[in-house]
Amino acid sequence: MDLSTEYLGILLNNPIIVGASGLTANMDTIKQIEAAGAGAIIIKSLFEEQIQLERFKQDEHESSLESLDPEIARNTPGTVRHAGADEHLMWTRKAKEELSIPVIASLNCVNRKTWTDYALKLQETGADALELNFHAESQDIRSTAKEIEDELIQIVKEIEKAVSIPISIKLSPFYTNLPELISRLDKFKIGGYVLFNRFFHPDIDMETEAHVTPPSFSNPDANRLPLRYAGLLYGMTPADICAASGIHSGKDVAKMILAGAACIQVVSVLYRNSIEHLTIMKDELISWMSAKGYRNLADFKGKLSRQQISDPWVYKRIQYVQMMMRGNPLDF
Ligand SMILES: Cc1cc2nc3c(=O)[nH]c(=O)nc-3n(C[C@H](O)[C@H](O)[C@H](O)COP(=O)(O)O)c2cc1C
Repeated sequence: MDLSTEYLGILLNNPIIVGASGLTANMDTIKQIEAAGAGAIIIKSLFEEQIQLERFKQDEHESSLESLDPEIARNTPGTVRHAGADEHLMWTRKAKEELSIPVIASLNCVNRKTWTDYALKLQETGADALELNFHAESQDIRSTAKEIEDELIQIVKEIEKAVSIPISIKLSPFYTNLPELISRLDKFKIGGYVLFNRFFHPDIDMETEAHVTPPSFSNPDANRLPLRYAGLLYGMTPADICAASGIHSGKDVAKMILAGAACIQVVSVLYRNSIEHLTIMKDELISWMSAKGYRNLADFKGKLSRQQISDPWVYKRIQYVQMMMRGNPLDF
């Protein structure tokens, strides 16, 4: 059975990619991921915000020392320097050196200039490609959707001009008109779109009436959203679609490929089970393909995309109209 697929112009030996997370920030786990048969990995994002926060904490710590003993400040001016992105860059380089599967770097910045600076630094690590981790959510009442999208386009334009490795864009589902945004992004050399990012959301403990931060892992229900957009966008964009969110089984992988994805990303299911779950997912994909008589992914990729099916409403239908027209509303 041939599970190979092309993503961002890179040949993967199968479509299951381990997404950016703590799992790809550690040598033991990335080795286990490779041994369990992942097609590629995305390194945990380089977050500019994290670097800013660490710098801020360090500055605060130094000024507290100064206030205790001004001698320290006089004798050690600027000797303790925050390493900035260096540690992350070293890690990405090391991961690339140690693994034989493709290694994709990931970036999320706050300032426009830093996006391009760090993109270039990540390219120098030898990473095979670069995933740009964007989110649309803004809590600023003064920003319009157009301003947020124009800023995204500008960042992508500058990065695409500067780097030569393939670029993928990881988007959130919160854009007003995703197909339109993607058509604007398609004017640049974008190799793929990762649909979608999953974000951390706070929760409230009802006993203490305080915010808590439990792990935020997906359930399989979450894969209906990327399924819809993989199906809608297949054939509409020349870039590859990489489905992500709620993909927990080999059949989920096959569903995404039927809809039009070139590959998929997993994270939650590996946290919920174990990294070895990758092997189970691959085996499930193979058994489903052999039961259906498919020998490779191209045999069924996009078979159930909007482009290939006769009912265009399958992907357009949003409201529960059809369900409500059934005799018994509880009869699902
Ligand atoms: C613990 C954890 C850490 C994550 N860290 C990152 C990250 O550094 N960068 C990023 O782009 N996405 C990050 N994500 C999102 C995942 O890469 C991925 O898009 C999403 O979790 C895929 O859906 P799934 O968890 O349902 O498989 C993280 C997710 C989790 C659960």
